[in-house]
Amino acid sequence: MKTIGLFYGSETGNTENAASMIAAELGESNVDLYNIADADPQSLLSYENIILGAPTWGFGELQGDWEDFLPNFDQFDLSGKTVALFGLGDQENYSDVFLDAMGTIYSKVKERGGQVIGAWPTDSYEFTASTAVVDGNFVGLALDVDNQDDLTPDRISQWVSGIRAQLQ
Ligand SMILES: Cc1cc2nc3c(=O)[nH]c(=O)nc-3n(C[C@H](O)[C@H](O)[C@H](O)COP(=O)(O)O)c2cc1C
Repeated sequence: MKTIGLFYGSETGNTENAASMIAAELGESNVDLYNIADADPQSLLSYENIILGAPTWGFGELQGDWEDFLPNFDQFDLSGKTVALFGLGDQENYSDVFLDAMGTIYSKVKERGGQVIGAWPTDSYEFTASTAVVDGNFVGLALDVDNQDDLTPDRISQWVSGIRAQLQ
């Protein structure tokens, strides 16, 4: 497996923790971890395997660092790239816009030609609406550490074992 570039944004540290757990599950030596607050957007293009992690803030909005980072994708050709997404949100307090930032990032990655892997079932969540649901599944791993933190380690290990074989 080629080295994975894992890029995340995080306001209060939850996505950062999840990113570290995902990297540990994949094997630290297989992953280059970037907080997008400090990363050169162009560095993303040096990877064929890319993981993007994002919390949703505001009301269905991107977190601040993602607001700055995502517009760079308009210059990127992501064809030939394998991309997996994970999102953090709060299904109780933001039930109408649960994980919408992951949906926003998914749309941009698809628009730029990336192949997205790692869809995830919606069964163990209760929410009203999410732009991160496509064809009945989340477009990536859905984490809610505000309400279901006890499920996070198992969700990460299951999701990672699912994507591992599909990485290049
Ligand atoms: C002010 C505020 C707004 C939020 N807005 C949303 C939202 O629109 N949708 C959602 O699913 N979660 C929302 N959340 C929940 C966060 O995404 C969640 O707490 C996440 O774990 C934060 O990750 P971070 O620490 O990496 O920034 C919001 C939380 C706060 C405090």
